[in-house]
Amino acid sequence: MEIKVERAKTLKEKPDQSNLGFGKYFTDHMFVYDWDSEKGWHDARIVPYAPIQMDPATMVLHYAQETFEGLKAYRDPEGNVQLFRPEMNAKRMRNSNKRLCMAELPEEEFVEAVETLVKYEQDWIPTAPETSLYIRPFMFATEPGVGVHPANKYKFVIILTPVGNYYPEGVAPVKIWIEDEFVRAVKGGTGFTKCGGNYAGSLAAQVKAEEHGYTQVLWLDGQERKYVEEVGSMNIMFLINDTVVTAPLEGSVLPGVTRDSMLTILRDWGYKVEERHLSVDELMEAGRTGALKEAWGTGTAAVISPVGELCYKGEEVLINDFKTGELTQKLYDTLTGIQWGKLPDKFNWIHKVK
Ligand code: COI
Repeated sequence: MEIKVERAKTLKEKPDQSNLGFGKYFTDHMFVYDWDSEKGWHDARIVPYAPIQMDPATMVLHYAQETFEGLKAYRDPEGNVQLFRPEMNAKRMRNSNKRLCMAELPEEEFVEAVETLVKYEQDWIPTAPETSLYIRPFMFATEPGVGVHPANKYKFVIILTPVGNYYPEGVAPVKIWIEDEFVRAVKGGTGFTKCGGNYAGSLAAQVKAEEHGYTQVLWLDGQERKYVEEVGSMNIMFLINDTVVTAPLEGSVLPGVTRDSMLTILRDWGYKVEERHLSVDELMEAGRTGALKEAWGTGTAAVISPVGELCYKGEEVLINDFKTGELTQKLYDTLTGIQWGKLPDKFNWIHKVK
């Protein structure tokens, strides 16, 4: 892929690394790549970060053909730049795009684009503890028109944002509302994709949870509202007695990169891991009896989010006395240790940016 570069005339001042928050500052440049049905992918370029002009009839604004990804770049203790399993994001975006009838970007071009932009913007990778450069690739329909059909033009863009912890309180237990009215996804729908529409549809439950004093929503399956699937915008895992349980990937759950990595680490440590249907009744009973030892959400943005309390139909159960569990902490330390280059990359997950 030939990538043209247009350098910004003035560069921004870098934000204070001790107060980055999540997704508030954006770097000087972005990557842009266009696709149309005649030329295919063309005009790969790094250009100054700037607004994108669109016709008011641009199809993404009406019918939401949009997908995105999330991954991070890290600086290791020697100052080298590295990515974590970018090939998985590339593959997932292709799968998302297939489902939404959008143009598919070859996986090696996705990785090359991420790597080239990160290298170009490497001065923006923060070095303070618990910080990284969050990478947000996304694609959307750019054809103008109001007839409903797959668009014949798309734009693939990557923007970068230096980030601290996703939650201002850092890795600390949160209170979770088990949602029994709204659903996130059904089998046959778009739950396994990372499309903006999934997130728009989730907001009503999020608002409801917050109104009740909860941080996040635990989603139940869309057909029976019986089996636990995901938490907020993350996958979720439970330590019940000595077994780690998480929902299986059957179409309605996002195939998370962090989910996959943690399951691999847990199996390597010799834990029993079950990817199976877990009913909310079984979960609440495990909470009541104390069999539920720990619970945590997993995602690229937050890495791990310990769950300290569940509320279902008015009943509350505490998990591990609302403290971050030992296994939860160990998983966080191990995964971030690999990502920040402080622990050996036993599973060959690190992609060095050269
Ligand atoms: C991620 O964990 O990277 C996500 O995409 C979650 C979110 C910020 C939407």
